[in-house]
Amino acid sequence: MSFPLVRNRRLRSSAALRNLVREHTVTLNDLLYPIFVTHGANIKEEISSMPGVYHFSLDRLEEEIREIVELGIPAIVLFGVPHEKDAHASSAYDPNGVVQQASRLIKTWAPELLIVADTCLCQFTDHGHCGVVHYDEAKGSAEVLNDASLELLVKTAVSQAEAGADIIAPSNMMDGFVYAIRQGLDEAGYEQVPIMSYSVKYASSFYGPFREAAHSTPQFGDRKTYQMDPANVREALREAQSDVAEGADMLMVKPALAYMDVIRALRENFNLPLVAYNVSGEYSLVKAAALQGWVDEKSIVLETMTGFKRAGADMIITYFAKDIARWLRN
Ligand code: PBG
Repeated sequence: MSFPLVRNRRLRSSAALRNLVREHTVTLNDLLYPIFVTHGANIKEEISSMPGVYHFSLDRLEEEIREIVELGIPAIVLFGVPHEKDAHASSAYDPNGVVQQASRLIKTWAPELLIVADTCLCQFTDHGHCGVVHYDEAKGSAEVLNDASLELLVKTAVSQAEAGADIIAPSNMMDGFVYAIRQGLDEAGYEQVPIMSYSVKYASSFYGPFREAAHSTPQFGDRKTYQMDPANVREALREAQSDVAEGADMLMVKPALAYMDVIRALRENFNLPLVAYNVSGEYSLVKAAALQGWVDEKSIVLETMTGFKRAGADMIITYFAKDIARWLRN
């Protein structure tokens, strides 16, 4: 036998052959598109650090929803950017809150489009933390309370389901949130509404542009007492394990790009559907380089999405979803 013994290039010799042996593909069915909704009238305002991503007031939302449906994107993730904020995030569970109003409207325009409601408090609290804060004047310290926050999250999730959300996606990283929300939903008659848990959410600098977009930067301190340390992967398995035990229907890893190993670890250890969240900072980095003409946006994005699938994700939340839908069509 002549050298080389193995000719791996044989299967790469034509596009048709490469297509035949391809192991992973990105399809429209994999995509969830985040949308920011706000109060006011006639607002479609670009987020400066996220070119191509906007805040929409409710009267400008229909056009956007129709475009998403026309592109064939199956699901959106709704983020509220409310005007009123207070210590107890009342606007998060107000039946007339911005997310609740948006959900009801979207269901009249596009009943088939899946609405994933991000269930968190940070956009709705005046201090910008994801839960209730207890201040110790004497010590000059502040603590984000776990169990008191759960009550507000449950109220938020139930009011989102009432308004028409198809999937509840708690992102605030309090302990026990899946169990508490599951119970709350069941008691309110929403036992068929699945929970997509942000199981493994790291305290990441990649959320920077989102916090500008959602006006949710914490006013003091950081989120490190509830979001995870980027250095840990065994802890990610523990987080996922507790969510599975508490009744989560889907698991998520967030951010995605710097955490491909974590996606793989969850894939190998759990059998629930797995979501990769391609977060705001990951979007902005690629956009900025693409706008400079330094990288080819389409091929970089499609390669990245394929990477998430290869790592083990079943679906991807990405600000590129509309672009990808257009590229896949052509
Ligand atoms: C709310 C929330 C955040 C993101 C999604 N939900 C911000 C945060 O935790 O600070 C980030 C999404 C992104 O960066 O695209 N807790």
